[in-house]
Formats: sequence, structure tokens, C-alpha cells
Amino acid sequence: MMKFVLASNNKKKISELCAILSSLLPDCEVLSLGDIGYTGDIEETGDTFEENSKIKASVPASLGYIGIADDSGLCVDALDGAPGVHSARYSGGGDAENIKKLLSELEDVPDEKRGAKFVCVMTAVFPDGKTVSARGEAHGVILHEKRGDDGFGYDPVFYSTDLNKTFAEAEPDEKNKVSHRGRALALFCEKLKGEIC
Ligand code: IMP
Repeated sequence: MMKFVLASNNKKKISELCAILSSLLPDCEVLSLGDIGYTGDIEETGDTFEENSKIKASVPASLGYIGIADDSGLCVDALDGAPGVHSARYSGGGDAENIKKLLSELEDVPDEKRGAKFVCVMTAVFPDGKTVSARGEAHGVILHEKRGDDGFGYDPVFYSTDLNKTFAEAEPDEKNKVSHRGRALALFCEKLKGEIC
């Protein structure tokens, strides 16, 4: 039985990854940090999504497991890529405050300069230090106001140019097909399979 440890305690992420990995590799198990008795906080000190996902995945790897982690965020052209790796903590508040801050920073920015992308990087680190990493991106523009009730984070102001609607107006399946996370995960699984099969 091959054991992967996802460097997260987010149950939604763990069950999603569990379903995908076990369809790929019938004899595998996805554990959380809690499952292996790790209770520390991992500081995301990197400047890039690649660095942060590697920092997180290295923790289970240092304990003898295959560590897996993701890191994601929103990069806005007119803000030189901000909020980027700081997306979750952009305003110091929750999702509503983050969106409010983003819209106010972009107040005077015209439609044609409101391009943005969501980025997700998934990384696996093996106990011997070997690393497999995959990046997925979703492109769009930042609207002037929220549209739609689904999703989370910046979804209501992110108008996807793949879907021609915001991520908050999309069904979960529809979003997953074009999202940064869906794309990173598909590529990641392909690369991982090449590495371990
Ligand atoms: P993390 O990868 O869970 O640390 O997420 C980083 C932050 O980026 C989240 O808290 C959200 O603010 C933002 N983010 C990442 N992915 C999405 C998404 O699919 N929709 C909306 N916001 C997202």
C-alpha cells in the first residue's frame, strides 16, 4: 500500500485528492498531517507558488512519507501579480474583505487592463528528495462588482474567459474542468503516474 500525506488538514482537499489518486493507483491511501501525528504549523515563507507547495510537501517527506501539497492564488496584471502568494491574507480579513480591497485597488483601472489569472501548483516530495511539480492556470478579468453565489474566495469577481461567466456563476463540475486547480491536478497525476508506475 503506497501512502501519500497531503500537507493540509482541509477535509475537502483530502477527499478530492483521495478520489483522484485512488482511481489512478488502486493501492494507495491519502492521509492528512493529523493522521501521522503532525500538529505543527507550516510557515509559507516562499515568494512563489512553487516554493510554498514544496515547503509544505517537504514536511511529510522529512518524516518518511510521500508528501503532497498545493498552493494557489490570484495574480492581477494591473497590480503586478498581487495578491499572488498572499491571496488568502490580502486584506487581513475574510473573503468579503479581500474582494473589497481588490475592487478598491482596481477602481480606476479600465476594463481592457483588468486581466488576471488564478494559479495553482501541486508538488509531491519523496523521502529521497525527488520532486514532481505541476502548474495550472485559469485566465480571466476582474469585474467591477460581484456576480454569482457559488464558489469561494475571489470567485464572484473573477470572470473566466473559458466559461464566459464568473467562477461563482459556474457549477462545481464546470469550474473544475477549466480551473487552475483542475488543470494542475490533471497534469500532476499524469507526471506522478510516470514517476511511480
Ligand atoms: P490556498 O491555496 O488554499 O492557500 O488558497 C489561497 C487563496 O487563494 C484562497 O484563500 C483564495 O483567496 C484564493 N483562491 C485560490 N483558489 C481559488 C479559487 O478557485 N477561487 C477563488 N479564490 C481562490
